[in-house]
Amino acid sequence: PLVTTTEMFKKAYEGGYAVGAFNVNNMEIIQGIVKAAAETKSPLILQVSAGARKYANPIYLKKLVEAALLEHPELDIALHLDHGEDFEICKACIDDGFTSVMVDGSHLPYEENIALTQKVVEYAHARGVVVEAELGRLAGVEDAVNVKKEDATYTDPDQAVDFVKRTGCASLAIAIGTSHGAYKFAAGTDPKIDIERLKVISNLLPNYPLVLHGASSVIPEFVEMCNAYGGELKDAKGCPEPMLREAAQYGVCKINIDSDLRLAMTGTIRKQFVSNPSNFDPRKYLAPAREAIYDMVKHKILVVLGSDGKL
Ligand code: G3H
Ligand code: 13P
Ligand code: NA
Ligand code: ZN
Repeated sequence: PLVTTTEMFKKAYEGGYAVGAFNVNNMEIIQGIVKAAAETKSPLILQVSAGARKYANPIYLKKLVEAALLEHPELDIALHLDHGEDFEICKACIDDGFTSVMVDGSHLPYEENIALTQKVVEYAHARGVVVEAELGRLAGVEDAVNVKKEDATYTDPDQAVDFVKRTGCASLAIAIGTSHGAYKFAAGTDPKIDIERLKVISNLLPNYPLVLHGASSVIPEFVEMCNAYGGELKDAKGCPEPMLREAAQYGVCKINIDSDLRLAMTGTIRKQFVSNPSNFDPRKYLAPAREAIYDMVKHKILVVLGSDGKL
């Protein structure tokens, strides 16, 4: 059924694994992810950004998730708003039947982030919806999220404790060096996240679920596939898998993945276009793209997240 993340996070925290939160924008993406979760008996979070809502019209995405649950009633799926930047979008998603929303006030001054988060928590909790908030700022570029490297700030551990206490948010996204998009670490540098900071935050917030954004691995196989078939993704680099497995040991219960889905889909479609130039049936290139997403997500669940068999 459609569920909140409350039970998912409790089990993930105790089990030292994480639940994947995958960004969805259309039918093929949802089908590929859901097939992987069903086969591995994994809990699942499907998240919709403001950009996804604008692209697809929110009702379509909600109905596609409902369809996935009709096909797989045994699954637990949370439907989550990703990066809600104001009260209105959070309210709209809560009213639309989302089970979880992220209120992202990380761009605001501290007290304003608290006030906005409190307001969303109050509205959400009265309706059985859970709230993820964010403290600290990740670097990176997406449709609605665009933060320059010099504007990024790591999460302060003591402030995190104060923030959670005062807002009552059910989970907290923290900034420890990951970033959004396909260029997380500069060319020629080793990927590095601040695991020590994560440990400190996690120790100060026992039994509390943390969230890692910007956690795609930017899988080299798909970057190379894009580049081999006409793409230009020079120096793309993401979070190595062992890093994510380690984070899941220290209270990280939700790992956000969007870029890896984009790369799997785009790489596969590029290859289809070049390999099969006479084809003009979208199903013939979207089916392999959906299959690539399924394979990629299955690998994440089994090898990176450890959420298999945890339904
Ligand atoms: O963190 C942002 C997500 O990857 C969604 O990106 O705003 O381009 O849909 P988007
Ligand atoms: P990636 O760009 O690393 O996939 O991060 C996605 C994300 O954090 C969505 O909120
Ligand atoms: Na989120
Ligand atoms: Zn994010």
